[in-house]
Amino acid sequence: MLNYETVCALVGEGMLGQSALNAENELPSILSQLGHFPDDSICLELGTLRGISTAVLASCFKRVITIDTQYHSHRLSNWLKLNVEKKIEPYIVVDYAEEEILIGRLDFDIAFIDTIHDEENTRKAFEMVKKCGLVLFHDAHFEGVKKFVESIGASISDSGIYAVWREERNGDT
Ligand SMILES: C[S@@+](CC[C@H](N)C(=O)[O-])C[C@H]1O[C@@H](n2cnc3c(N)ncnc32)[C@H](O)[C@@H]1O
Repeated sequence: MLNYETVCALVGEGMLGQSALNAENELPSILSQLGHFPDDSICLELGTLRGISTAVLASCFKRVITIDTQYHSHRLSNWLKLNVEKKIEPYIVVDYAEEEILIGRLDFDIAFIDTIHDEENTRKAFEMVKKCGLVLFHDAHFEGVKKFVESIGASISDSGIYAVWREERNGDT
């Protein structure tokens, strides 16, 4: 899996501003703790920015569908430098209505939410992606995100930065 050191070496540390990938490598670490995923697993990311977390996810899953409301330059060159561009399917949406329709048509096994870090936007993002049954939240230490992830019973990482929600399915103990 791609980590902070490799990503910095290939794209430069300056590309990592506002990224979920930090020097503590908590994103790769939390992804590996989520357990084994079948080889054909698909991840949906909300919040692409310069595509840094997208690249880490692409090094872990067969395919990453990533959605943003804005196009950020550098993302394609970052994906080319990190050799993950063939695994990434990017979309830009104008608003939640379009995003909801798009996500309604998609099949994916896990979702990563890293968008606007307040309660209302986190709730909207979660409602759109929860059908997959496994959702990873970034920046769960932000007040609104924390309030929301606590309200759905997500597990919060030791650092408080990540939260994981798993749907309880019939037969779960
Ligand atoms: C913190 S940045 C994402 C960083 C990126 N995940 C990373 O770790 O490299 C947040 C991004 O969310 C995007 N965003 C805001 N609202 C969104 C929405 N409704 N759906 C998808 N992306 C959204 C912003 O445009 C911004 O690019």
